[in-house]
Amino acid sequence: MSERFTPTKDDKFSFGLWTVGWQGVDVFGGAVREPVDPVEAVHRLAELGAAAVTFHDDDLVPDDATRQATLDRFTAALAETGLGVEMATTNLFGHAVFKDGGLTANDREVRRYALAKVLRNIDLAAELGAKTYVLWGGREGAESGASKDVSAALDRYKESMDLLCGYVRDKGYDIRFALEPKPNEPRGDILLPTIGHALAFINDLEEPDRVGLNPEVGHEEMAGLNYAQGIAQALWHGKLFHIDLNGQHGPRYDQDLRFGAGNLRGAFWTVDVLEGAGTGRRYDSYVHFDYKPARTEDPEDVWGTAAACMRNYLILREKVRAFRADPEVVEALAAARVDQLALPTLGEGESLDALRAERHDPDELAKRGMHFEHLDQLAMEHLFGVR
Ligand code: GCO
Ligand code: MN
Ligand code: MN
Repeated sequence: MSERFTPTKDDKFSFGLWTVGWQGVDVFGGAVREPVDPVEAVHRLAELGAAAVTFHDDDLVPDDATRQATLDRFTAALAETGLGVEMATTNLFGHAVFKDGGLTANDREVRRYALAKVLRNIDLAAELGAKTYVLWGGREGAESGASKDVSAALDRYKESMDLLCGYVRDKGYDIRFALEPKPNEPRGDILLPTIGHALAFINDLEEPDRVGLNPEVGHEEMAGLNYAQGIAQALWHGKLFHIDLNGQHGPRYDQDLRFGAGNLRGAFWTVDVLEGAGTGRRYDSYVHFDYKPARTEDPEDVWGTAAACMRNYLILREKVRAFRADPEVVEALAAARVDQLALPTLGEGESLDALRAERHDPDELAKRGMHFEHLDQLAMEHLFGVR
């Protein structure tokens, strides 16, 4: 493997403990691998060049007498390796109590328990230095119409987010929340199913500045959407607080493949957006991977899949940079008039009356071809590695 695709801490790669620790349990079969000790995960990920780890409360700290001892071992491993904790989140989906959701469960007592569970882990997140707190509402949803009053559920979602924002404000924690949209699975239909739904919801919160998004590649693909375009819009709104990179082949079950697998062209444009190419709005938080090492893999192979996520990102980054620097691409972009889109439609000081008084000849304008296919072919050839 070539040197140039070896990650360093400056690349800001991070992994959920639940990713490399996934035991392979799925709806049709049980575990295929032993649990991974979070301390081992920290050491192995550090050796591979990652900069940070992330966790759900339940990935790390058992709610029993061993909690403090577990935390001590974990923080010692962080200190030894220099790895950070950049994000944390709450498991509001695994336990049977969350069968109808956490923050939006019909059962009020379940909601109160869920909120308390989040608060407890926010304290730990703050203690470990995490700056982002993710909320993925996998169980916040329904399988049938009458069982969930969507309007009331959104009231309760908002209530929880407002309370959580107030909590971090009062505590003085340097933490922002990131909502993670997903259209379905495990619920038949999940609330806040896409980037767009979540963006609109944030506007109705009491402190919208404290809340942004954690979009996942696979989840937008499951909804048949273009992830790169979705995160570009989230960036435009100043709401791309965090990302979950992985791989997915379009609308089907959540595949959680390693980054680069699945829709590879989509991955190319994703890296292009994250690196700020074209738009100038660059993502500046951690490049976080949320994938599931395939069930077919041995424990040792798991580390190869983690390395591959980072390596694929670095390879794509090099290709994206080469694409943007290619003089023929620069020409093709100009021929496609991409730069013109940055010009305001109405010039400064111009009036709408003047614009309406202008002579516009749609038939003449229609004769101008856009030359997009050539531009895209150049991108593909960079991706193929023939340029
Ligand atoms: C999924 C989700 C989850 C969440 C994670 C954070 O695969 O559906 O991505 O992995 O990201 O649980 O809460
Ligand atoms: Mn995710
Ligand atoms: Mn997923």
